[in-house]
Amino acid sequence: MLTSCTIEKPAAPSAHVPAELYAGLAAEAACISPKFLYDALGSKLFEAICELPEYYPTRTEGAIFERHGAEIAQACGAGTTLIDLGAGNCAKAAALFPLLRPSQYVAVDISTDFVSEALARLRQRFPHIAMSALGQDFSSGLRLPDSVRAERRLFFYPGSSLGNFTPAEARAFLRRLRGQCGLDGALLIGIDLAKEKALLDAAYDDELGVTAAFNLNVLRHVNRLLGADFDVRRWRHAGFYNEALGRVEMHLEAREAQRVRWPGGGRSFAAGERIHTENSYKYRQADAIALLEQSGFEATRVWLDPRRWFAVIHARAIAPLGA
Ligand code: AVI
Repeated sequence: MLTSCTIEKPAAPSAHVPAELYAGLAAEAACISPKFLYDALGSKLFEAICELPEYYPTRTEGAIFERHGAEIAQACGAGTTLIDLGAGNCAKAAALFPLLRPSQYVAVDISTDFVSEALARLRQRFPHIAMSALGQDFSSGLRLPDSVRAERRLFFYPGSSLGNFTPAEARAFLRRLRGQCGLDGALLIGIDLAKEKALLDAAYDDELGVTAAFNLNVLRHVNRLLGADFDVRRWRHAGFYNEALGRVEMHLEAREAQRVRWPGGGRSFAAGERIHTENSYKYRQADAIALLEQSGFEATRVWLDPRRWFAVIHARAIAPLGA
């Protein structure tokens, strides 16, 4: 049984993190993994993005949960172990507690302090639910302690974060989740659907510049992690829908030629050169369902908003191929 509130921090500040960052920055087409967007300030900026009029996913998904909450709860069943992937401030799961009535809640997020603080607040409101927070980068593998019950696991992956993986990575990620479903496991997932370019461009390049700040903040995070000297003022945000690839892309573009240094190395950037920081794939409903099926899940229910912008899908784990 979980203790009522346990916090597991990452084992160490991950020795492989700088190696991954160096490799991305040294690549001909430079990139920084989107997971580095979420330091403490980045997590707060993402919360602010969710409030923006242009950023429709959070509101649209929330409206689906509000409108179809009873049916969603029926599909999931009560008494599950709710494992919230990328829990952030835990608000989405908490809003569903009265309907889903989980017996255990496990909040997992790369931003350890942020999720730990959120969980501490949540514990006051729901003292009858056993809760635990895991500070983990689960993108390459989720490590669940033995205290997390193996039966009736319900993985909760809202917000269309699956879109931040390439389709191949998404399939590998879902297959790993399938492997951790245990007996009678399932997935409740939110997926942003393909739509008009103008809407997507605005959602990822808002008028106030909050998304720009979120993107630029990754350079400060990298400065801290690597001891680099990126000057944020010499970069600009670019966020747009790439229709051919079916994804929104975020980049940071050098405003002028410059050299960036870090202990033991550095790199020159030409004016206009970009660092790719995020993809956000937008799926067609049928493709999302096919992806789940290829990963060992069977979609049992799909709920959409009236504009068909966003899908919430309940999928149960099916026997692994060959079993
Ligand atoms: C977390 N993730 C689903 C967001 C998205 O829409 O891809 C991150 C984000 N990036 C820019 N705005 C929001």
